[in-house]
Amino acid sequence: MLRQAEPDDVTVFGLSPRDVPRAMPAGRIVAVPHAVEAQIALLAADPEGAAQAAAVEELADTLTSRWKAVDNERLPHRIDPLPDLITVTDLARLRTGPSPSLPTVCTVGVGGDHLAPIDVDLTGTGSAFLVSGPPRSGRSTALAAVVTSLTGRGTGEMPVVICCPRPSPLTGLGSLPGVARVLHGTELGMELDDMIAELPGPVAVIVDDAELLADGLAADVLERVVRGARDEGNLVVAAGTTEDLGTQRYRGWLAMLRRDRHGLLLNPSSHVDGEVLDVKLPRSTRGGWPAGRALLVEGGVTVPVQIPLYDKPVRPVRQESRIAARIPSF
Ligand SMILES: Nc1ncnc2c1ncn2[C@@H]1O[C@H](COP(=O)(O)OP(=O)(O)O)[C@@H](O)[C@H]1O
Ligand SMILES: [Mg+2]
Repeated sequence: MLRQAEPDDVTVFGLSPRDVPRAMPAGRIVAVPHAVEAQIALLAADPEGAAQAAAVEELADTLTSRWKAVDNERLPHRIDPLPDLITVTDLARLRTGPSPSLPTVCTVGVGGDHLAPIDVDLTGTGSAFLVSGPPRSGRSTALAAVVTSLTGRGTGEMPVVICCPRPSPLTGLGSLPGVARVLHGTELGMELDDMIAELPGPVAVIVDDAELLADGLAADVLERVVRGARDEGNLVVAAGTTEDLGTQRYRGWLAMLRRDRHGLLLNPSSHVDGEVLDVKLPRSTRGGWPAGRALLVEGGVTVPVQIPLYDKPVRPVRQESRIAARIPSF
């Protein structure tokens, strides 16, 4: 605590006016909590601001030239700040090595001490991946990142079926090559069942607003898909509100999804939100993260990431392709 304007102001620091000298020259401090008196050292003999600033700069120059002589790997570690917003295109530019080639690996965001794409094998700890967050935290956008990443290789190895029980930004991805079908409404169980039966080989089932499919035929079908996912090579990626996923804890396909402890936790509002993916969050967790900021959770380990915003123009869904997909194959 430096000199205060009013004697009583020292109480803000937990000190009593009795602990503090009556007169304090410039630079005199009382360190809390033990009321130790000390004097801050000057960097140059002249106490004026300009002289002190010049001394700081001189010191910085000396240090910089000293660091120049040091090998890169011996320098202090640099930690990049996470961006508040990154597009899929800009994220791809950060990649220095080859793109992931496994059909189940997708790029969920940017992160790390040196910003780099964060690739996740969705089958890493099971065959499920859960996106949890409050409304408007960027859950649908996270699913879009998964879909564009899975289909972006253009190999068609992992056809994607998207379930939107309520209108969702994912509807716009229906025309992407690799997206077999977008199903709408809460009564999509039968269609989903048919789609999975029709498509040859493994399928990635993407479910937005998953809490709306917690019951009914769709829930039964999804439970069967999750149960058999590993054997059949299918994948399930679902997004829901942290609040709803928390209450679905002990039953149904959503509870099964949580068991893998694999997913993205967007904007947790308190440490309790960590329970959804069974991770311990600091008690100081208060939310207020930018949209698309999440913790990637893999088996209890968390990594902060920024999920990319899809920036490629999405063509409107072509009506005829949806009709063609309706014709059952005998
Ligand atoms: N990764 C992101 N980066 C930047 N802004 C985002 C991101 N994700 C979402 N947003 C912003 O937040 C809004 C809500 O996103 P959305 O994915 O629809 O959230 P949710 O599905 O959780 O309700 C979007 O309109 C967008 O403006
Ligand atoms: Mg949404």
